Amino acid sequence: MRIDKLLANMGYGSRKDVKILLKQGAVRVDEALVKDAKRHVDPSSEKVTVFGEMVEYRPYIYFMMNKPAGVISATEDQETTVIDLIDPEYAHYDLFPVGRLDKDTTGFLLITNDGAFNHALMSPRKHVDKVYIAEVDGEMTVEDIKTFANGVDLEDGYTTKPARLEILSRSGRRSVIRLTLSEGKYHQVKRMVAAVGKHVERLERVQIGDLELDETLELGAYRELTEEEIQLFFNK
Ligand code: URA
Repeated sequence: MRIDKLLANMGYGSRKDVKILLKQGAVRVDEALVKDAKRHVDPSSEKVTVFGEMVEYRPYIYFMMNKPAGVISATEDQETTVIDLIDPEYAHYDLFPVGRLDKDTTGFLLITNDGAFNHALMSPRKHVDKVYIAEVDGEMTVEDIKTFANGVDLEDGYTTKPARLEILSRSGRRSVIRLTLSEGKYHQVKRMVAAVGKHVERLERVQIGDLELDETLELGAYRELTEEEIQLFFNK
């Protein structure tokens, strides 16, 4: 990776700021002065310092995004993807979303470049719960709570694992529900609700494992996970 890119990514300012640092003679690679912004470095084997201070290169990045509707949970698509919403300064990290939310689903999406983190979350054996809030056209009932707790037969013959359904509110034909799933089948919430004869009109994911979506994140915004938040998933 180019030295100017590495330093800009590690928070030493814009590429222009970094160029000034290089010109000033502040930057050394394995003790040798480097002034050329185009110089390539391998941060895993070469020691980079700025004014004598070691530059800690982080190989992995973990973002929590509040996914807006209308974007695709993929790395590349003809339409806008969640990765397109990430600042280009992170482009070299080869980020990808952990699992998928439908195009029209909003809420909590993890984005990383760490394959082990992805596995810790996605492996069916790890049973990481995901919590959704859904606005439903139709009256969700106590009967539905029991049906969901026992596992729902979907239209393709698959029987879902037991799921916790809470009815948060009901007025007329509209219900707001909170649904906790321990698996992530294709369109699972929508298909479960359809299996009991109702229709999901709006869907938001609000929690993954023990971590809740940060309510201060606007739709489309993201922030890095803290070290403690990352460990919540690795310590499972
Ligand atoms: N279930 C769905 O139906 N859609 C999603 O995006 C996530 C879970």
